Amino acid sequence: MTIPISTFKRIKILSLFSMAAFAFACSSPNSTDSEKRYHNNFQPGEIWLDSDSVHINAHGGGILFHEGVYYWFGEHKTAGRGGNSALVGIGCYSSTDLYNWKNEGIALASVEEEGADIEKGCVMERPKVIYNAETGKFVMWFHLELKEKGYEAARTAVAVSDQVTGPFTYLRSLRPNAGQWPMEYTEAEKNQTFESELEWWTPEWMEALKKGLFVARDFEGGQMSRDMTLFVDDDGTAYHIHSSEDNLTLHISELTSDYTDFTGKYTRLFPGGHNEAPAILKRNNTYYLIASGCTGWDPNAARSAVASSIWGPWEQLGNPCVGDGSDLTFESQSTFVLPVQGMDDAYIFMADRWRPKDPIDGRYIWLPITFENEKPVIKWQDEWDLSVFDSQTVQK
Ligand code: DGJ
Repeated sequence: MTIPISTFKRIKILSLFSMAAFAFACSSPNSTDSEKRYHNNFQPGEIWLDSDSVHINAHGGGILFHEGVYYWFGEHKTAGRGGNSALVGIGCYSSTDLYNWKNEGIALASVEEEGADIEKGCVMERPKVIYNAETGKFVMWFHLELKEKGYEAARTAVAVSDQVTGPFTYLRSLRPNAGQWPMEYTEAEKNQTFESELEWWTPEWMEALKKGLFVARDFEGGQMSRDMTLFVDDDGTAYHIHSSEDNLTLHISELTSDYTDFTGKYTRLFPGGHNEAPAILKRNNTYYLIASGCTGWDPNAARSAVASSIWGPWEQLGNPCVGDGSDLTFESQSTFVLPVQGMDDAYIFMADRWRPKDPIDGRYIWLPITFENEKPVIKWQDEWDLSVFDSQTVQK
């Protein structure tokens, strides 16, 4: 039997139609690639795809807003145990809306050179980038630990670039404020001596620590610097805030006017308070600090503090997180507070949910900060968007 040509046509049309229907079914709004990577809200703790449909890799990060664009710098982690060490370096992403991010590549790469500060396998944590209007340079500081030395180096490192996305040129690492006493030290404090054999965690040791046992110990070589952040004040002065004294005391240090060194002016914050992961914001001429306790990669309760000068005195305000999960900062640890541009009183708490067994799978916990009775408050949201700040938007 011969099949008429029109039947062939019909079969062809039908099969084309069913192929199109199949393709349409596979491309329902929630499943296409482009839909998956387009975001119009934040979903804390979920996989966050960049514009290439890859989970964002910028942990322990901070954000710089420059000429209408947000730039997110963070630790580029790799898969599996060992993925917390810097096998790649520090990555950069860009965004104009804070939901959708484009991978701008590695801003500062770790290097092959044996013995180099940033040799592959070292630790490059918590990078923060600021822009210096005087020099026109972008300045990156980060916590550096030398390869195969655990966390004993406790150094901070600096790199600069003419372009915001890099590549950054590595300058050096150091322990801050060598040969300098904290600004509040009296002559008597500068001349105090400590018993060298004090046993750790005894009341005598804690008393000595509060008085500056470790400041004196590290006076010549410079103060320890681990978890860190940067803060640029309204007058352009930049500060480097870091966990020092074996993570027992925070130090706030002034940077030089080009932002690439320390002036030697610094203060100690909450001696013996065991604070890590510092993040700072300024609101109504008041400074707020959010930090964590020290429990390695495990989460703990956040804490906050307030001051009318960055140099203090700082008053403790307790845990800014409220509700279920607040005792563990919603399983995360602070890294930065991001002021939202064009909105008044709009700040985003940025934190990391670490995954030490598979660091590349670490998640981002971004939540709005509200102020209640002049205290920062952070509440869990499964998903949210910037309209939560609408009532605070500046009317122009
Ligand atoms: C907690 C710090 O906040 C992290 O940046 C990292 O240094 C881990 N400790 C390492 O255990």
